[in-house]
Amino acid sequence: MDISKKQVGFIGAGNMAKAIGRGIIQAGLLDASHVHASAPSETNLKEWASWGAKTTNDNCDILELCDVVFLAVKPHLLERSLDGVLGRMSADQLSRVEKSDKFFVSVIAGLKVDRVEQILQQKLGVSSAYVIRSMPTTPCLVGEGLCAYTLPRSKREAPQYSEFAERVYSSVGRCKRLEEAQIDAVGGAFGSGTAFVFTFIDAMASGAVKMGLPWATAREMAAQTVLGAGKMVLETGRHPCQLRDEVSSPGGATIAGLHPLEESGFRAGIVSAIEAAVKRSGELGKN
Ligand SMILES: NC(=O)c1ccc[n+]([C@@H]2O[C@H](COP(=O)([O-])OP(=O)(O)OC[C@H]3O[C@@H](n4cnc5c(N)ncnc54)[C@H](OP(=O)(O)O)[C@@H]3O)[C@@H](O)[C@H]2O)c1
Repeated sequence: MDISKKQVGFIGAGNMAKAIGRGIIQAGLLDASHVHASAPSETNLKEWASWGAKTTNDNCDILELCDVVFLAVKPHLLERSLDGVLGRMSADQLSRVEKSDKFFVSVIAGLKVDRVEQILQQKLGVSSAYVIRSMPTTPCLVGEGLCAYTLPRSKREAPQYSEFAERVYSSVGRCKRLEEAQIDAVGGAFGSGTAFVFTFIDAMASGAVKMGLPWATAREMAAQTVLGAGKMVLETGRHPCQLRDEVSSPGGATIAGLHPLEESGFRAGIVSAIEAAVKRSGELGKN
């Protein structure tokens, strides 16, 4: 599949859409002139325009013009975003949707593939629509995202869909194909988890400031510490506990620090945070 020739659109132009849209332009996968975004206001669209992407306030433009359409609105707004589209798309483009030649990538947390497909059928007036469900994280913006995706089970297994997802998401980070039942866990653990890590970086920087470092230096060093630790886990393939134990000398400083960390319920807190985020994401999808 020659992705560089595709027209790729985003319905919803906020944080997640920008992370992917800008990421794929920066990675050189698509020229900015092949990237389109729609939203009701100019709040986010002006940023897209500054990269050279095409913008519109009419979601139907994206559906009509683009070969691949990312659905990137909040879960409760998907139906509303497609209101008024029925009867406006050309027969040619509707037929492309039905043949899965024009397809969709949902980044909407908590909404199952079947539900998104059903909404598209109803709102566009088509007998079927091909939807890849994905769960990307915002570090796509800096080329270090994580994205899990799933293909609809009921549809034929054609390689171009997974190839598209792999190429787009690998250009902005690490990409894994999973079963749909596992996707919500990815959103809670690693989508929301990105915010948990920001909180950890801030807490680590606060500790360093308490011990005498200036704020800016402490934040930079805390972020690099997280980046470096993550890279060590990925590049050595070793268990994080093994790496931790190797820097925890008997009677030393690190084990002295690990004790109060364990006493504070640090690990249980992270597990509960992920559990709460996954549960809430499921509720939002249902509502
Ligand atoms: N943020 C994350 O880390 C993350 C991770 C994984 C998945 N997601 C999913 O990504 C989706 C978007 O989240 P977000 O964080 O990017 O939200 P966001 O920053 O609030 O962006 C939402 C976008 O939707 C636009 N919008 C609102 N109503 C619309 C309509 N009727 N038609 C077209 N566009 C409309 C908004 O327009 P304006 O620009 O005019 O305000 C905005 O551009 C959600 O479903 C979320 O579950 C987010």
